[in-house]
This record gives sequence, C-alpha cells and structure tokens, in this order.
Amino acid sequence: TTYRIAGIPGDGIGVDVTAEARKVLGRAAELHHFGLEWTEFDWSCERYTRTGTLMPDDGIEQLSAFDAILLGAVGFPGVPDHVSLWGLLIPVRRAFAQYVNLRPVRLLPGTTSVLAGRTAAELEMVIVRENSEGEYSTIGGRHNRGRPDEFALQEAVFTRAGVERIVRYAFDLARTRSGRVCSATKSNGIVHTMPFWDEIFAEVAAGYPDVAAEQCHIDALAARMVQQPGRLDVVVASNLFGDILSDLAAAVTGGLGMAPSGNINPEREFPSMFEAVHGSAPDIAGQGIANPVAQVLTAAMMLRQLGEDAAAAAVEGAVEKVLADGAVRTPDLGGRSTTAELGSAIAAAL
Ligand code: NAI
Ligand code: MG
Repeated sequence: TTYRIAGIPGDGIGVDVTAEARKVLGRAAELHHFGLEWTEFDWSCERYTRTGTLMPDDGIEQLSAFDAILLGAVGFPGVPDHVSLWGLLIPVRRAFAQYVNLRPVRLLPGTTSVLAGRTAAELEMVIVRENSEGEYSTIGGRHNRGRPDEFALQEAVFTRAGVERIVRYAFDLARTRSGRVCSATKSNGIVHTMPFWDEIFAEVAAGYPDVAAEQCHIDALAARMVQQPGRLDVVVASNLFGDILSDLAAAVTGGLGMAPSGNINPEREFPSMFEAVHGSAPDIAGQGIANPVAQVLTAAMMLRQLGEDAAAAAVEGAVEKVLADGAVRTPDLGGRSTTAELGSAIAAAL
C-alpha cells in the first residue's frame, strides 16, 4: 500500500519538527513495507504575509485527495493568532468533520514530571477535545465602538448531535483503557450550554453501565490534574476547555515538546489531520533546537489511523528507547542536541 500524505510544515519550529517526523516515517515505511507519497504545501503565516491568505481558495478541495495530513504549526509574530487559526486550522477541522481532537499524554522514560514523585501510571491520560463547535465561534460582535457603553458579545454553539458524538467517542475509548471518563463542565457559571452538555453526558453514560462516569467543574478539574492526576484517565471536554486542559496535561508530564495530537474524523469519510499540541514557538524558531518528539509521536498517531499499527508502535518504541538512553536530548529535556540529531537518533533506533 502507498498512502498519500499532505505535509504542511507551516511556520517556525513546525518546519523543523515536520522534517524530522518525515525522516522517521520514511524509515518506518521502509522497514514495514508500505509507501508514503508526500505532497508538501507552503500554507503558513509566512505565505499570508506574501499573498494575503494562508491557503488558496481551493485548499480544502486539494487536501480532500489525501489519506492524511501532517501539519507542523502555524503562527508568526505580526500575524494575529485568530488569522492563523481561522485561516487554516479551523476550516480544515470543520470541512473534514475532524470533530475529535485526541491528545494522549504520558510520562516517557528518561524524562521527569514537574510533579515530583508521580509515577508514569498516574500521569497516563487522554484528553478528548470537542473540535468542531462550542466556544470557537464567529457569532457575536463588537457594539457601540468608542462609546462608554461599548461591549462585545461572543456566542458558543453546542448542538445535540455534536455533543453526543464526542461524548460517545470518549466512552468507547474508555472501554479500551481504564473504563473511566471524566467530563469537564462549568454548569454553575455557564447556565445554558454547560447544563445541556451535562444532560447529554448523563444520557450517553446511561448506555455505558460498564464505564465509570463522573463530571467535574473545569476549575476543580485543573487542580485535580496537578494534585491527583492518577484519578483521571479519559477526560472529555468542550473545544475551549479541552484546549486548556491539554496544554496543562502536557505540562505536568513531559512538557509541550512531547505532546502529540490528532484531529480525527472517526468515520474516515475525510482525511484526518495530525499536529503536535505545541505551536510555532517563535522564541526558539530558527535555532534548530526544538524537540521533535511531539511531532514524531504525532506521526505515529497518523500511522495508527492509516491502519499501520505495527509501524506506529515501532516509532513509539524508538522514541522511548532514545529517551531512556538519554544521550541525545534537546535543551528542553536538559540536553544540548539539535532537532535533527534527535530525529536521526529516533530513526536509527527503529
Ligand atoms: P508554543 O507552543 O509555540 O510555545 C510555548 C512555549 O513552549 C515556548 O516557550 C516554546 O519555546 C516552547 N515549546 C513549544 N514547543 C516546543 C518544542 N517542540 N520543543 C521545545 N520547546 C517547545 O505556544 P505560543 O508561544 O503560545 O504560540 C506561538 C505561536 O504558535 C502563536 O502564533 C500561536 O498562535 C501558534 N500556535 C499554533 C498552534 C498550531 O498551529 N496548532 C497551536 C498553538 C499555538
Ligand atoms: Mg492549544
């Protein structure tokens, strides 16, 4: 089999880490006897500053021909972040019904958690973030500009179908893991959408008597993730809450340089898009020192989605081996190696 992959390196360290992911994937494909046919797109904030758009008008149509998309990160100093998010990531997520943003976190060998004394088992969890609606909405506006009574309104959109499908995904996933789901809510303060979310969560939970379901207010859940991470496994959350929790979860395990993510269309009607949790990191861009592990693990998630489970497991195993060995580490892991050196070490460990 040969898979057609759309590569979108994007901006900043997205370019460096995607190159390493391709290096590792190329080796994995050789060893596991499948083909990867890459087409690379220069869609980015850098393109935006040249042409006025992040991607061409028919960008979605072009991507629809691929089996999967591997994205680095988009974001550029001087380009407002809402331009990069709404000019590329959100249109792709929505056009391809990538309604699951799956963000697994775990403590990898040879790395330490900022939560001293926590074991790897306590820190293993997965954030299931709703990825197509919720708080990320353009409905609303600015009113009475320049007047003392100026205000802004921002609507969140939660549909029954949209909440049901993400919650169901979380329960199905829990069956393959610990059998526990925790739902992030804030129904004490957000009085329309969150009680609706909770109601649907309870309805779906009733269909999974074998899965332990609980809900937790987002503020308390954030504290629990730090103080009692072992109580959490599958965490299902709205678009905004899930985004915040996944950076937090990454931070309490190995840091952003280690956290993979997939924008997944579970029905496989459209390509899924894989991107690390981290952004383009302008503070370290161009220095060749970004940690490629997050993007390499992201690429392993892509292999799993393509059905290449053995190759995915081999890539994860190679990452663990190199990290456990400890000789090749980027500065965020306390070492002095470059992005390319760590990528090459992982490819060699395969
Ligand atoms: P960021 O994730 O790019 O960086 C946060 C901090 O983590 C920085 O200190 C950075 O150096 C460090 N870091 C991130 N990834 C790392 C890696 N692989 N190795 C070592 N250190 C790493 O988040 P920030 O600074 O908030 O955003 C920067 C830009 O990226 C913005 O324009 C933002 O909009 C964009 N962004 C894009 C995303 C995407 O394309 N999916 C996601 C998040 C942010
Ligand atoms: Mg984020």
